[in-house]
Amino acid sequence: MSGAAVVPKAELHIHIEGTLEAEMVFDLASRNRVPVPFADVEDLRARYAFSDLGSFLELYYSCMAVLRSEEDFADLANAYLARAASEGVRHAEIFFDPQAHTARGVPLAVVVDGLSAALRTGARRYGVSGGLIACFLRDLGPEAAMATFDQLLEHQSPIIGIGLDSAEVGYPPAMFSDVYARARAVGLHCVAHAGEEGPPEYVRQALDILHVERVDHGVRSLEDPALVARLVDDQIPLTVCPLSNVRLRVVGRMEDHPIAGMLDAGLAVTVNSDDPAYFGGYVGANYSAVASGLGFDDETLRRLARNSFDAAFMDQSLRRRYLDELSRPVS
Ligand code: HPA
Ligand code: ZN
Repeated sequence: MSGAAVVPKAELHIHIEGTLEAEMVFDLASRNRVPVPFADVEDLRARYAFSDLGSFLELYYSCMAVLRSEEDFADLANAYLARAASEGVRHAEIFFDPQAHTARGVPLAVVVDGLSAALRTGARRYGVSGGLIACFLRDLGPEAAMATFDQLLEHQSPIIGIGLDSAEVGYPPAMFSDVYARARAVGLHCVAHAGEEGPPEYVRQALDILHVERVDHGVRSLEDPALVARLVDDQIPLTVCPLSNVRLRVVGRMEDHPIAGMLDAGLAVTVNSDDPAYFGGYVGANYSAVASGLGFDDETLRRLARNSFDAAFMDQSLRRRYLDELSRPVS
């Protein structure tokens, strides 16, 4: 990984369950005596060939079955934070999917307490700040999202915001207006996946109806010039995930990724890894991939890193500290 790929940065689109490496699937399966439907690590890795979001989600949910205890969730998040810190991540806003675990009988407290313990330790051990964002699985519908939100509040979960993920097409953001209104009312940050496989209209709904502060992916916004103009005017951050887009065939090849045009248009683009265990690399690899695939120079990578701090949910003094570090000449 070249020097520029490890610039100080924030990661804003990372599903903690998507950092579950094949080796850890087998380690946890054996620790928890959970059967897995794969022969070995190689057999599992051979299945990382996806045709679309749905084909990925099937494997993603199947692998998570090995996550059972608070320690499992803490180990998962700790491994991510160690790796992220080694790639220049100073701040990570981490998505998790409560319903993917509660639906398997794992109590919400086990998930949240394990993850939040690792974040606390990670802040000390690796110097990475951040927080948790609870995502609702849109294909389970708005009532299930509301019930999960109630559980999160009841548990006094230390989350900084809510998000919306899983199968996109057929589940427009407008379906979730009530739970987003409640989250806003209690002061939580709001983001949503939109415009990954879904149309620009879903991005509009995320902005107009859910009042999101950032859009996760959002690459299909480019099909709608008026929407692009609005995203530029309002400097709505887009958390773009280049390797994910290629692996899930949202984009043909890295060389064709629209991120260069997005930056040129003045969009507040950030680069993130989404589900790095499955998509061929962590955030540094995503920076490297746009550098080599699209010829981004070091200045452009630094601009992406600057955008990531600008888009992060952090107080201004911390933001200033990270931006100052980023602007110091490399020795
Ligand atoms: N899109 C939607 N849902 C997801 C993703 C994604 O890229 N990763 C994990 N859940
Ligand atoms: Zn995602």
